[in-house]
Amino acid sequence: MPELSNTKCREPGLTLPVVESGVLIRYTRAVRGRVMAGDAGNRNYMDIKRRVESFIRNYYSPDEFLQRNIRLKEEHTYRVAEESVRLAEHEGYDDHRKALVSIIALLHDIARFPQMALYRTFMDRETRDHGDWGCDIILAEGILDDLPREDRTRILTAVRLHNKFTLPDGLDDETLLYCRVIRDADKIDIFHVVSSMNVTEQGVSDEPPVPADGDYNPQLVRNLLGNINADYRQVHSRTDLYLLQLSWIYSLNFLYTARVISERGYLEGLMAKLPEDSVLNEVREHIRTFLGDPVSRIR
Ligand SMILES: [Fe+2]
Repeated sequence: MPELSNTKCREPGLTLPVVESGVLIRYTRAVRGRVMAGDAGNRNYMDIKRRVESFIRNYYSPDEFLQRNIRLKEEHTYRVAEESVRLAEHEGYDDHRKALVSIIALLHDIARFPQMALYRTFMDRETRDHGDWGCDIILAEGILDDLPREDRTRILTAVRLHNKFTLPDGLDDETLLYCRVIRDADKIDIFHVVSSMNVTEQGVSDEPPVPADGDYNPQLVRNLLGNINADYRQVHSRTDLYLLQLSWIYSLNFLYTARVISERGYLEGLMAKLPEDSVLNEVREHIRTFLGDPVSRIR
């Protein structure tokens, strides 16, 4: 039996799933008193993973478009969790940090499921900011209720900020670390997805990737050549979308991420979608050079 009813969510424009209080009570009892380290941290992680899996499955739909996009985000969620742990291991983080980065990854896109079910799009600007919305869901579901307050706050902050254009000043060092890990792990997998599938802001399509055309926003190109992260408001064509995605390399936080993206050929896959054009070729070369020597620019 699914723990939450989402029958109202099968159609767009209707209400969110109703939280059943019994679910919250059972979960709270199950994790009460555990600390986030070692085996206990692992148990906590498994509990939260089960909750997330159950939450997501409630959004499975007979509607082909919805199902394809729910599955896209579900698989993305689990891959980002794997990428987060790999990054954390590479950085030599302890068990407690590894548990937290895993939980943040599992929860970072939790709002994507109701967003797609209700609105049939992943466009935040036409629906809701999915980082903020995710925090509301986590709190309503009580998923973190029995974790230490400090951990809870850090997880919620990282989920809320994972999709923001920049991070605000004033975050403590530990919170900043979690924000940086999820932003990089998320980007690794987004690069994987956009370089290999036909993805728009509305969702993923089974169609082969549509080649970009020569229509692009010159401001975006100037930003790319100036190592500036682009903004969704500058996107007016498919080429612009690819250029925006390429610009994400300028906001990477770890050298590890730049190396992974480069070694797996994600950027080459994305750049291959751009049309042949002398200006865009300049962009390609610029990005290759940047990734070849990102040390001075990435912490
Ligand atoms: Fe996200």
